[in-house]
This record gives sequence, structure tokens and C-alpha cells, in this order.
Amino acid sequence: MRNNLRINGERLSWRLAELGRIGALPGGGNCRLALSDEDRRGRELVVGWMKELGLAVTVDAVGNTVGLRKGSEDGPPVMAGSHIDTVATGGAYDGNLGVLAGLEVVAALNEAGIATRRPLAVAFFTNEEGARFQPDMMGSLVFTGALPLAEVLSTKGIDGETVGEALARTACAGPAPAGRPEVHAYVELHVEQGPVLEAEGFAVGAVEGVQGISWTEFTLAGQANHAGTTPMRMRHDAGLVAAEIAVFARALAREIDGNQVATVGAMTLHPNLVNVVAERVVMTVDLRNTDEAILQQAEHRLFALAEERAAAEGVTVERRCLARFAPVAFDPRLVARVEAIARDEGLMVRRLPSGAGHDAGIMAAVCPACMIFVPSAGGISHNVREYTAPEDLANGANVLLRLLLELAE
Ligand code: GLV
Ligand code: MN
Ligand code: MN
Repeated sequence: MRNNLRINGERLSWRLAELGRIGALPGGGNCRLALSDEDRRGRELVVGWMKELGLAVTVDAVGNTVGLRKGSEDGPPVMAGSHIDTVATGGAYDGNLGVLAGLEVVAALNEAGIATRRPLAVAFFTNEEGARFQPDMMGSLVFTGALPLAEVLSTKGIDGETVGEALARTACAGPAPAGRPEVHAYVELHVEQGPVLEAEGFAVGAVEGVQGISWTEFTLAGQANHAGTTPMRMRHDAGLVAAEIAVFARALAREIDGNQVATVGAMTLHPNLVNVVAERVVMTVDLRNTDEAILQQAEHRLFALAEERAAAEGVTVERRCLARFAPVAFDPRLVARVEAIARDEGLMVRRLPSGAGHDAGIMAAVCPACMIFVPSAGGISHNVREYTAPEDLANGANVLLRLLLELAE
């Protein structure tokens, strides 16, 4: 009978749409940057739903929020979770799906009058995206004790506000302790955010792990000078070095091939004027690979190139690590269960690695963890056009329901 239990797909889509109204962008998509006023309003909506479903809600010092449903026995809960912050040009699915599908699981159990043996928890973690404050997965890092709270509170965001100031201004923090989580198992349903499932006709992905992530900020300092009068050989052009780093990052990823990716996603030039040689550039490089040794080689080559090109141009280079995560492998038994449950549901399923970072990768350090992927239309994410069909959302949520039930027995 429990295997016949289903989540309500229409209500899941409705909740996603309702949450998507908060921080909605004029042309579609969402901006709910971590610890912004929009994030705060999103939290209020989701916490309200948690309470309606009878969950006991606790919030910790960085705003990680957990809704707990009692089991027939006490003990560490089986947790479903993800995040509800977005990048500045995000969609309605990234993160939100995992949280709201968790609520659907609770609703389905409530409606069927089912009590599980272990408690069930639905969680959302603060600042998974890392778009406003780095590193990404900040909340789950604090939740698991991998990142000290004091360090996080003093971290400045791209707009100059610190995490501590933003927490105080938005009143997103609470008194629950962090750093000693007792979680029996963690399951995160998420949109793939890549093209593989859709292109190959799969309904579900059984995620084997998360690739390694390396975020570096380069600050290049040269000399501002007149664009017309300064001979080319006498320039100290920070803009040129930035361009060389960007071109090299792409060439490096192509040369390594396989799973290596490289992205220059942010670059600011000073003074950023048409007729002035750029004096200063701050830029980011995001490198990722499923293989830690190859990722380290890519880092070394990128850093060496930056030093070499900067020296050649008479520009200084400073490097700051914004985030660094080794690749993570999910619990093999849980990955196998995702695969088996999806098959049993009559869904085409394949194993794949995650290209994006996820809270599940952080939770994997403290408990058995895994992820369920559903297709992203056109493989598009971190884009206002992000979309997943309602049927795919419901399929993923039903796999989540069955796996949580198994784990909670
Ligand atoms: C987080 O969404 C990341 O993978 O950048
Ligand atoms: Mn996400
Ligand atoms: Mn994201």
C-alpha cells in the first residue's frame, strides 16, 4: 500500500509557482539572493507551509531551517532538503524543488495517516548558491560543522554587507545549534541543470556524486594611462592579462577534455572607460572536474599562466580562493535504491555525476546522502528560462517519497 502512495503533482507545481512569485523578475525568472528581503519573504512562505503541515520548525544561527515530523520512535531524522535562494537571474526550480517536494511527501503521509518509524525532516539551507556570499553551500557547511560560524558571519557579500549584518537586518537567524547534526540519511531531489537526461530520453537521474569545484578570484593591478598616447610596449594593462587568463581557461578545459569545465563568470575593470588603459581588474574563474588530481593540475596551470602573463605585462596578480570542494561520491546503496525505485515506477533512469554543487555534497560528510535528478528543459539553468515539466517534477517527487519512506522504516 505504501508503494502506491503518491504525491500531489498539481499542488507541487502550484507551490513552486507561488514561491516563484517572490522575487519574480519582470521578464520571468527569479532573484532571491541569499539573505535578501526576497529570500526572507520566500522563507516566510515556506515556513508557513511547514507549520500548516504540522512540522516543528527550527532555525539556526545562519538561517538553516528544518521542519521536523515526529516518528513513532525518537532518533535522528531522515532528511529531505535543498535551498530556496537563487542566483540573480535564476529560475523557479533550482533548489526550490527539493524543499517543496519534501513538503509534498509530508502532505502525502499526513493525508494517508501514515506514521514513519524514524522522524522525517524537510530542510532548506542558507546561501547554497554562493552568488552573493562565497563560498556556495555556506549554510550546509555551517550545519555540518565544516565551516566556523564566526568566519561565515564576517564574510562580505558582493554588495558589501556581511552575512552577519544581512542575518540581523532580515531576522533570518534562529537559536538552533549548528555543527552537530544527527541525520540518519539525506536525500535531495533537484533539477539536473544540464542537458543529459532530456537529450537521452531519461526521466530520472541517479546521481553518483558531485564534481570538484574550485573558485578563484584574481585581482590584477597595472597602471591607468592614456589610450592614445601610451605606446603599446609601455603599457601595464590589467585588462589584457584578464583577457589572456579568460582565453587560457577555455583552452585549458578543451585540452584536458573529458569532464573539465572552466568559466570566467565575473569581471570588473577599473576605471572601465573607453580611452583609459585598465588599471585594475577583479575576475573570477570557476574550474570543475570529477577527478581531483586533474582538477589540481588545471588549477596549477591556470595559476602559473596568470603569473607569467602578469609578469610579462608588468602587472601584479593576487589570488583569493572563494570556494574549494573535492569531488564527492554519494552512498552507493542509496544511489542503487534511487535507480531501483525509479525502475519500479516504470521510469527510464540512468546514473550520472552532478555538474553543479549541492548541499547533498556537504551532507555526505556526516550521513549517507544521495540525489535524484529530473530533466531540465534544454539543459538550461541559472537562467530565467529554467524549466522542468510538471510530469517530471512529480516523477522525481514520487521517487523521493518512496526512498524517504524506505529510509524511515
Ligand atoms: C551552485 O549552484 C553551483 O554549482 O554553482
Ligand atoms: Mn541548486
Ligand atoms: Mn544553483
